[in-house]
Amino acid sequence: MSYSTSLFSKNLKIENENDFGGTISIASCSATALTKEFGSPLFVLDQADFADRVNAWQQALTQSFTGGKLYYAAKSFICVEVAKWLNELNVNLDVCTGGELAVALAAEFPAKRIEFHGNNKSVAEIEMAVSAGVGAIVIDSFVEIERVAQVAATAGKKQNVYVRLTPGVEAHTHEFISTAHEDVKFGFSIASGAAMQAIEKCLAQESLNLIGVHCHIGSQIFEVTGFTLAAQRLVAALAAVRDKFGKELPELNIGGGYGIAYTKNEKAIAPDEVLPVLAKVIKDECAKANLKVPTISIEPGRAIVGPTTTTIYEVGTTKSVTLEDGTQRRYISVDGGMSENIRPALYGATYSAFLANRTSTAKSISSRIVGKHCETGDILIFDLQLPEDIAPGDLLAFPATGAYGRSMASNYNHMPRPAVIAVKDGAARTILRRENQADLLSLDVIEVPRRLS
Ligand code: LLP
Repeated sequence: MSYSTSLFSKNLKIENENDFGGTISIASCSATALTKEFGSPLFVLDQADFADRVNAWQQALTQSFTGGKLYYAAKSFICVEVAKWLNELNVNLDVCTGGELAVALAAEFPAKRIEFHGNNKSVAEIEMAVSAGVGAIVIDSFVEIERVAQVAATAGKKQNVYVRLTPGVEAHTHEFISTAHEDVKFGFSIASGAAMQAIEKCLAQESLNLIGVHCHIGSQIFEVTGFTLAAQRLVAALAAVRDKFGKELPELNIGGGYGIAYTKNEKAIAPDEVLPVLAKVIKDECAKANLKVPTISIEPGRAIVGPTTTTIYEVGTTKSVTLEDGTQRRYISVDGGMSENIRPALYGATYSAFLANRTSTAKSISSRIVGKHCETGDILIFDLQLPEDIAPGDLLAFPATGAYGRSMASNYNHMPRPAVIAVKDGAARTILRRENQADLLSLDVIEVPRRLS
């Protein structure tokens, strides 16, 4: 099993390919046939690639650490069908809201293999998690220590918890997806002493069983050193806990964040590139501190689902504008936009697009791909070269759109969110249906006002 570090899903093929694309098929389902059957825009998920990626991370984890635990980060993309695959693949699940937990439970995902994250879990969400019997709750604030302890005590349970620590690592990624420097809302700072206080408070709670420490340094990270530095600081925290409280915590969870390719020039960070290095650092640090090597967990989301999915759009209109320097820019408008891919507008994320329904040998021109929202910033790709004969009805494929696309989709401008289709061995099926206007209208209520006392 080879791990693909390119932006394309493993079973994506381009017939008569040139730099602009060609006739694209995924798992032998052509983009044209898929959009004819299921409409557009469309998220097309390569199911076999998904399983291969899960297995590659699992295998590298097992080879690097005995008994390592793989959690899939549901926030990157989850639906009932995907939760079922994850269950069959025998991995664990990281959820961070009652909504994500509800999807997992609807898929009959075993609660003991779920961990529950979040910096502001409500009492109702904690009650839901405790009564479902989740394997662990990741504690993120002092308020929450009391909250979880109270809920567990009322339920007559001893709840396994991790404490989320902030190791003070500056991850080299966009500020909004960097999570482990000091000035963030997540976790307890190791440097300020808050981490040790939180651990002490958890240990003092009868209804909590502190099983380890957690950190997540950020997302879309390519440098192994960010992960190793965080791991070193977490091992030091485990040693400090042992020295102060005489207790060796059995688990260390280092979160997700492994970067993927979005353009042809980028290369994903591979599991067998990062995990053996991380394992060596953790083992060396534990040996130095005379600690037993804890059970290691990781929580990739993007690295598993991101490259599996290609979004197919249909071109609706094109137009040319004259720039100040007299050159032309061609705008290509597709039938989606910032509602199913907010990442370019929110993080300045870059993507690639390929002609998907035919091969064009026309001259290339500078193009900007935009959505159909009433917003100037509704830009999917700022500038790329595409053939000048692209016309309404052509299909464009955006690879590597499986993570944080559908999961962050909105209904801005009352746009129904697109379907997700799983493809495998020449067959396609809906795993998340397209919303329709009736779905959106179903939320509208015409009610007689009621006085509230
Ligand atoms: N674990 C924790 C605690 C997390 O907060 C996250 C992501 C992950 C794991 C998974 O990270 P991944 O392996 O997928 O990078 N919306 C942003 C990404 C936000 C990530 C939030 N937390 C984006 O589109 O880039």
